[in-house]
Amino acid sequence: MKDEIVVRELKNKETIPYNLLLIADPSKSNIDKYLSDSIVYMADFKGQTVGCYVLCNAGGEITEIKNIAVDEKFQGKGLGTFLLHDAIKRAKWSGFKKIIIGTGNSSIGQLYLYQKVGFRITDIKADFFKTNYNQPIIENGIECRDMILLTRDL
Ligand code: ACO
Repeated sequence: MKDEIVVRELKNKETIPYNLLLIADPSKSNIDKYLSDSIVYMADFKGQTVGCYVLCNAGGEITEIKNIAVDEKFQGKGLGTFLLHDAIKRAKWSGFKKIIIGTGNSSIGQLYLYQKVGFRITDIKADFFKTNYNQPIIENGIECRDMILLTRDL
């Protein structure tokens, strides 16, 4: 399947894939804040968008994956890993020296996946989700409170 995935930039006039973006970040207002300074990359499979990720300049030589999402029907097939490697490759090509990604303390699978592709935990923003989101987020039976930041050298 990975051989048939085409990753491309979202064009200006195209519809923003909120259906995917919202599964990675439940706040549309939060998404809208970073989209204006970001590039959205779409992953198409046989003409259908099955995933996406968002790269946002984090200042200096650092870029951030703000959002990465795979359509539920296509999860667990290696696509998330493929998209992370694609983001790393594009960030390197663009001259960035570090790439960062943040996720919640409760996102156990994501923490596993990001470390598996070479990210290391470099910071924790305590109570980030409690402060910035109106509704409590419960995942894997625990409350999502803190943002775990992970970094990978390029
Ligand atoms: N729980 C447990 N394990 C997981 C999870 C999870 N939620 N997600 C991935 N994994 C594991 C897989 O079991 C797999 O393990 P293996 O390599 O040992 O077999 C490994 O991670 C890689 O899995 P992939 O198939 O490459 O990942 P997938 O295509 O499912 O994409 C993603 C991962 C993007 C996290 C997807 O599950 C998704 O869209 N989830 C919902 C949105 C989300 O949480 N996005 C990240 C939010 S943080 C941010 O956007 C910056």
